[in-house]
Amino acid sequence: MGQGYVGLPLAVAAVQAGHHVIGFEPDPQRFEQLRADVSYIKNVHGKALSAALKSGRYMPTRDESRLTKFDIAIIAVPTPLKNRQPDLNAVRQATERLARHVHKGTTVILESTVRPGTTRKIVLPILEALSRLRGGTGFHLGFCPERIAPGNEQWTFANTPKVVSGLTEECRDRVAEFYSSITQNVVLADSLEEAELAKAFENAYRHVNVALVNELSRVAHTLGADVWHTLALADSKPFGFTKFTPGPGVGGHCVPVDPVYLGHARTQHRESFRLVELAQDINRAQSAYVVSRLQDTLNTRHGKALDGARILVLGLAHKAAFDESCQSPAVEVVAELERRGAVVHAVDPHVAETVQAPQTLLPYKAYDAVVLLAAHNESDLAQIADEAVYVLDTHGAMPEAPHIERL
Ligand SMILES: NC(=O)c1ccc[n+]([C@@H]2O[C@H](COP(=O)([O-])OP(=O)(O)OC[C@H]3O[C@@H](n4cnc5c(N)ncnc54)[C@H](O)[C@@H]3O)[C@@H](O)[C@H]2O)c1
Repeated sequence: MGQGYVGLPLAVAAVQAGHHVIGFEPDPQRFEQLRADVSYIKNVHGKALSAALKSGRYMPTRDESRLTKFDIAIIAVPTPLKNRQPDLNAVRQATERLARHVHKGTTVILESTVRPGTTRKIVLPILEALSRLRGGTGFHLGFCPERIAPGNEQWTFANTPKVVSGLTEECRDRVAEFYSSITQNVVLADSLEEAELAKAFENAYRHVNVALVNELSRVAHTLGADVWHTLALADSKPFGFTKFTPGPGVGGHCVPVDPVYLGHARTQHRESFRLVELAQDINRAQSAYVVSRLQDTLNTRHGKALDGARILVLGLAHKAAFDESCQSPAVEVVAELERRGAVVHAVDPHVAETVQAPQTLLPYKAYDAVVLLAAHNESDLAQIADEAVYVLDTHGAMPEAPHIERL
């Protein structure tokens, strides 16, 4: 259920392992692309999708009546926030669609990231009510969080350990058996809730540490210290320290969203998850901080106002080598620059919906400032360093030089 960043690689991996897969995708455009053998997910190479379609074991569909006679169903639908609250509509709808076709012995697995407690309190009752079977005896239920890191070549779908959990031990065994057929390493959780909590915590951990290092970059700047040098020194400690790096904020489908589930799980019990809330405040404010740094330098070193300045923004994706600007802090930076009167050209070779058409771009030296927001491998950093008048590098990717300011 859902052929997106999570569902499509999973479907293709399952086909490669010999399973027969129905890929349910309600979005008409995505569905047509799948039918036309066009992969819209960077992690799924065109050849892999073609091979899946040619095998005759992969059938993309948006027709609910095709959802019959399955042994295993996996829900990989979006779980966004709506007014800063978890929106589980897609999970509910996908579960209802499946529930009508659940039969004795079926296994249903939730992969979407959810608030701890969701599999037992929301998915299970829908399945039981509509299938008229009991979870654990009539059908099996599990929660298996996805850890896919699009663009990461070292940690792939196959070699990233997969946490598996089940409503009962037998449920978990069924779920583990399936994932063992498509991944190299499964990690058993004792309960659905522990697996849900672990997933939310993994992303909260990243969120909090990025906020910590973003705050460090502000303090370092005030003290006249280079945050990248400071981090390299701290990172020489061989134990008890994991290096995170500053940037323009956090983005993507997960890191800005999932910690809210953790916070929400606690607010339900009238407590707050203070560290997570603080991290959210700090990371949200980071895009305005980046713009303020740029504004200050333009003003004090170049005698220019940001209002009316020509700014080139390089990189709109929320991280290097990634192709989506979903919840990207770069988009916030562009909006803030424009709000303060700058004339912005923004480009990203990876993101289809770049704000400006390439033909409108000027030579690097014609801009009052170039801001590097995503350091894709193929960005021509040497040429930018040679030609630009002033660069604000938010990733510490550029060489050190008087006209290059690193965050
Ligand atoms: N993208 C990641 O890197 C990542 C990593 C780990 C976990 N997750 C989690 O996995 C889940 C899915 O994320 P994604 O990135 O694949 O999202 P996505 O938006 O790329 O894909 C979800 C797909 O589900 C389809 N869909 C929407 N409503 C549906 C419904 N009611 N029934 C069936 N299909 C429906 C959408 O059309 C879409 O194609 C989310 O909970 C997300 O937080 C994502």
